[in-house]
Amino acid sequence: MRISIIMSAMLLAFGVWGGVSSSQDLKFVETPSPDPAPAPVMGDAVHGAEVYEASCTGCHSLDANRVGPAHRGVVGRIAGTAPGFNYSPGLKAAGFTWTPEKLDEWLTNPQAMIKSARMGFRLSDAKSRADVIAYLATQKAQ
Ligand code: HEC
Repeated sequence: MRISIIMSAMLLAFGVWGGVSSSQDLKFVETPSPDPAPAPVMGDAVHGAEVYEASCTGCHSLDANRVGPAHRGVVGRIAGTAPGFNYSPGLKAAGFTWTPEKLDEWLTNPQAMIKSARMGFRLSDAKSRADVIAYLATQKAQ
């Protein structure tokens, strides 16, 4: 996320400075911030638990199939394989493994990822997506 923000900032900078950008400008844009700490890759699982409770439990639970499939162990699981859940044809045939990146794509817009997807919900806030994914990653298969 942080990276894409930096990328957008760079694109914006190029747009603003247009043809006049010199190597000086590039140097300025690429100067690292005084804080050398690496950008966080994972979200905040504690906040993610709240997001899960508020946004997901209407249809999902960790250990039971409800409107949507059970979630325990979903990070690292092959898509469409929660035992006993009746998936859409597209998700059933997807064949990929749920990584944080794939989950981010799914939660942004399931139907953009898989046309026949039956999940009628989108989480538009990027930070909430990262946090709920971090939370799911802590809920490992037993
Ligand atoms: C309105 C009901 C609804 C809500 C709210 C909802 N989901 Fe879903 N979800 C579904 C359904 C239905 C499916 C199965 C989709 C299919 O078969 O195409 C699904 C599938 C999934 C899958 C795929 C799991 C697998 O086994 O492949 C993930 C991951 C997922 N949801 C995460 C979430 C998260 C995280 C939230 C909250 C931010 C959420 N969902 C909110 C209904 C919902």
